[in-house]
Amino acid sequence: MLNLIQSRLMSAEDVAERLPTRCTIATSGFTTGYPKVIPGAYARKLHEAQERGEECGFNLYTGASTGDELDGVLARTNAMKKRLPFQSTPDVRDRINRGEIEFLDIHLSHVPRYIEHNILDPIDIAIVEAVDVTPEGRIYLTTSSGMTPTYIKYAKEVYIELNRHHPMGLKGYHDVFLPQLPPEGRPIHITHTDDRIGVSYVACNPTKIKGIVETNLPDAGHEFKSPDSVCTRIAEFVLDFILFEISKGRIPAQYLPFQSGVGNIANAVLACLAQDDRFHEIEMYTEVVQDSIFDLLDADKLRFASTSALTFSSEGTARLHREIDELRAKFVIRPQEISNNPEVIRRMGIISMNTALEVDIFGNVNSTHVLGSKMMNGIGGSGDFARNAYISIFMSPSVAKRGDISAFVPMVSHVDHNEHSTQIIVSEYGLADLRGLSPKRRAQEIIEKCAHPDYRDMLRDYLDTGLRHAPGKHTPHDLRHTFDWHLRFLETGSMKYTPTTEA
Ligand code: COA
Repeated sequence: MLNLIQSRLMSAEDVAERLPTRCTIATSGFTTGYPKVIPGAYARKLHEAQERGEECGFNLYTGASTGDELDGVLARTNAMKKRLPFQSTPDVRDRINRGEIEFLDIHLSHVPRYIEHNILDPIDIAIVEAVDVTPEGRIYLTTSSGMTPTYIKYAKEVYIELNRHHPMGLKGYHDVFLPQLPPEGRPIHITHTDDRIGVSYVACNPTKIKGIVETNLPDAGHEFKSPDSVCTRIAEFVLDFILFEISKGRIPAQYLPFQSGVGNIANAVLACLAQDDRFHEIEMYTEVVQDSIFDLLDADKLRFASTSALTFSSEGTARLHREIDELRAKFVIRPQEISNNPEVIRRMGIISMNTALEVDIFGNVNSTHVLGSKMMNGIGGSGDFARNAYISIFMSPSVAKRGDISAFVPMVSHVDHNEHSTQIIVSEYGLADLRGLSPKRRAQEIIEKCAHPDYRDMLRDYLDTGLRHAPGKHTPHDLRHTFDWHLRFLETGSMKYTPTTEA
């Protein structure tokens, strides 16, 4: 048989030529592992078509966020109509917030079902990054899995970027398994983070593979700041809490697997875990692992990490490449339908740690909307984990924008995780344990433990007024003033009563 790769090799421009100017495109990519040259060629084709006066429009589905080579170049065509389920690229974000792109902010674990049930526009084209593809159509993915197995299954045509920058040694990192729909669904047999239940490749009918482009390009590195004192304080509160729970017999002495969200605080918690002598064998069941995983490895504390993506800085990626064979025993990369599966998360007893933009005094969390209307990134997997975790922790610095925004407010301007799913809230001032508390007591706990001292009196006032005037004293909101803080910020540049005049 003629080698499949040789028979389908073409340039990115050849692929772009075959792509319609109106279609639905689904790509690999979950922070890393996204296609890097076909999107640019397609964007150039769209620009040319637009110059000729042609109307173009496409939808873009991915696993989660991707890099500028995909999201950025395609957003700048102004032809992106719909985007899901998560993004973090400025050009996409701006167009979403200008109302130009319809963004579907979906729990990551829900996306596969929406595709399978044709709730979303059907996929015309899948473009995926791989390290290898065999004549039988076995596609070996690179550093992320995300939605790729489902997209390959449902796309009418598949194009592959064979990225030679990634080592072939990534073969064997993946465990590809897609559960069946009800009523055929069976239990997902993962009881330990390192259980493997599938195969190491995505099976695709080779006749669907219409083109293969060779590349040699790195993912945009995800650089992390060294943990600052705020992140470190938050991390210390989290670690003390976990040890306290162990002392109470509520977490077993050998711990439970951790899920850790994106960003610098999550990175700091793992870095502190690595340095803390009180912690040993750590396991992760999560959707992204970041550079801090190397701190755990170096401290000889990482037993195993199950993830949907390896999200490393350029330095971290270089290390992955150097140690590709040794690290295979430490990681498994799963489709997001499995990494974020509520059944597995609940059964394994995950300790979830995610970041909030703002939290209200009753424990509702906003992770996505700045001042109630502007999309930041999306809910991502935070809801999959928070709702189903054994213990759900949300972390946030007490203030943003040099103190002009309080992360702790009377009522969140948007709800992603409601008071019924949140349990532990942490800022650099302390940790509020909301479990078993009524709304009034939750409010006291959050104000006294987490809020920045500059905002505590204001929050106390709000609660006192509610307790005096609210028609119901169960969740004593003062509806006349619920959003005063957000409005004041919009009008004066500060949530404080007396706005600061500092630049
Ligand atoms: N109101 C307005 N702006 C706020 C804010 C608030 N309450 N809190 C933070 N911000 C601003 C910050 O000032 C910063 O602005 P800048 O980019 O202009 O400097 C920006 O929001 C990001 O804040 P930062 O503290 O750097 O956040 P982060 O990188 O730690 O990310 C989230 C925090 C919430 C945006 C991020 O964790 C996220 O997208 N979460 C949702 C998805 C998720 O949790 N996925 C994890 C599952 S694995």
